[in-house]
Amino acid sequence: MLFPQHSHDHSRSARRRLAVLSATTATALGLAVLAAPSADADHGARHQGSGHHSTGHHHGSRPTYRDARLPTKARVADLLGRMTLAEKIGQMAQAERADIDADTSQITSLGLGSVLSGGGSVPGSNTPEAWANMVDRYQRAALQTRLGIPLLYGVDSVHGHGNLDGATIFPHNIGLGASRDARLVKKIGHITAIETRASGPQWAFAPCICVARDDRWGRTYESFGEDPRLVRRMETVIDGLQGRKGQLDRPDHVLATAKHYAGDGLTSYRDTPTDPNDYPIDQGVDEVSHAEFARLALSPYPDAVRKHHIGSVMPSFSSVDWTEDGLGNPIKMSANRELITGVLKHALGFQGLVISDWRAIHQLPGTYADQVEASVNAGIDMFMEPFSGDPVGYPQFISTLTQLVNTGAVPMSRINDAVRRILTVKFKLGLFEHPYTDRSLMDTIGSRAHRAVARRAVAESQVLLTNKRRTLPLSKRAPVYVAGGSANSMGNQAGGWTLTWQGSPAGVIPGTTILGGIQQATNAPVTFSQDASAPVPADANGVVVVGETPYAEGPGDVAGPSWAPNGVQTMQLSAADRAAIDTVCSQAATCTVLVVSGRPIILPPEVVDEVDSLVASWLPGSEGQGVADVLFGREPFTGRLPVTWPRTLDQEPINVGDAARGKSYDPLFPYGWGLTTRRR
Ligand code: GLC
Repeated sequence: MLFPQHSHDHSRSARRRLAVLSATTATALGLAVLAAPSADADHGARHQGSGHHSTGHHHGSRPTYRDARLPTKARVADLLGRMTLAEKIGQMAQAERADIDADTSQITSLGLGSVLSGGGSVPGSNTPEAWANMVDRYQRAALQTRLGIPLLYGVDSVHGHGNLDGATIFPHNIGLGASRDARLVKKIGHITAIETRASGPQWAFAPCICVARDDRWGRTYESFGEDPRLVRRMETVIDGLQGRKGQLDRPDHVLATAKHYAGDGLTSYRDTPTDPNDYPIDQGVDEVSHAEFARLALSPYPDAVRKHHIGSVMPSFSSVDWTEDGLGNPIKMSANRELITGVLKHALGFQGLVISDWRAIHQLPGTYADQVEASVNAGIDMFMEPFSGDPVGYPQFISTLTQLVNTGAVPMSRINDAVRRILTVKFKLGLFEHPYTDRSLMDTIGSRAHRAVARRAVAESQVLLTNKRRTLPLSKRAPVYVAGGSANSMGNQAGGWTLTWQGSPAGVIPGTTILGGIQQATNAPVTFSQDASAPVPADANGVVVVGETPYAEGPGDVAGPSWAPNGVQTMQLSAADRAAIDTVCSQAATCTVLVVSGRPIILPPEVVDEVDSLVASWLPGSEGQGVADVLFGREPFTGRLPVTWPRTLDQEPINVGDAARGKSYDPLFPYGWGLTTRRR
């Protein structure tokens, strides 16, 4: 049974029970349980409310916390000792930029700790300069507070700085998982950090270290794969984003976020809606045993914390139903004290900050006060409460939490733990010394060098599923006939989190489409006819680029019949794409089908039979030439499936290892499948 989640019992016995439970889970994870820092240490802090006396020694007029020569711990202790309760709680609140952009005075009056850009929330003109000017304008408001604590600015740089027009847009994680190239993924993290920080934000809500187990989940594309070992191998992206310890204060690094803790990719598919605002699988319930949850949900986190020193963690919208039979009482991760405080902070020794997901605490039971109390006491340190009016958001969060501290429902030790973590991150990012954007790397945003790395990642992410009669690589002497809905669609090939939250088929960003890459790769005539209505030359090599339209979260869930209103994704070929395949494959000399999607698509046997070669292209991003590089043999095919490719939808969930667990495993293409070719 889980630690009573809504307990406010901070007695010694409760803490002991928490330690025991954490030890149990830590053992399941194969971890030595670290001594849990005692909450007593801060009991003395309970009466620090006044906050006007300083605990540090003075160097002349400059207060201790401003002395960059001192260790961060000492600076944090000094600053914490100076803060009032209001200043502490302000640091725990994060607003959305649209809410404060017209009037930044609330940043100063409330002493906000952070501002974010939600998906698609961009400055008036979407340029690096406008971004940096925007972030710096908010920063100026933060520095006008009594203690001048700088602001953290966060953004979802999940495949490059996707909100910024002109940024280098990399393949989404599922394609990077197909590359199996941990060194390249680290390089991608570094470039992402450069292009993010040079435009202002110092914090990326990335990477998702989710382990996607049911491809009907609309966020499968954000996962490096279905095997936690592959996900762990790709965590080098964190080193790219943050650099090594002590490098967070450089202009080419950002604070990274391991998300969504834990079990976001482990939720069960719901055949019928329980709540019209729900989605079939996103933000659902993990109905698994302790062992399965440890193996598939928690296992990416020890390395993220201990090996890669992740600076922040974001709890998942999902719930875990912890009882063995999976029929018990699912608890939302945002209120899961045993897993956030017990396992993550104590057993794993995570010292960074825990940031709630977007209004996630509003999904908890009870009143807003109940929700704030449960999530703060669970161990969340900063709250993504984006709005200030209707719906309820950061101002109400601040007043509610203040009330909870004054009544003792939330102990001062919890507030001090949260603020200590937040201040530590800000000192490590160098924000007290350099609060404003360092623009020295701004002109590298979208540079040829960055795009060349993205192009290489696209090539390495392509998975060759079938290749009859060695159709690929294509000759450069034969004419090419290109068709399909995703051949000339930058929006489709970039996917979600690109300029807008959900992305759009019509989205245009600088870069090269797959068609453009083909046209650059060969001097032979290239015909493009999206619906294959133009005549198909009998001697042409046909290339039909099919797949999904973009999505980011819930709308990407595969909508079963009873879910039609919510989702439009089917994991099936559209009629137009199927028609284009049939037309081209019946008339051209050879036909190759490229699937541009965030996950496997169901391919009927007759389609697999009629095509000569089949490629999983995933969501390549802005550098479509990488696809042509392997199509025409400039690079070899080396990619391998990061997820199992099912024959039919009702095989889901189907994953590597099923057979060893007594489940049937008869996919169209197994996990790890991928043919290779040689360079031409
Ligand atoms: C979203 C996502 C999360 C993202 C956050 C801020 O709902 O769940 O991954 O970081 O909100 O955009």
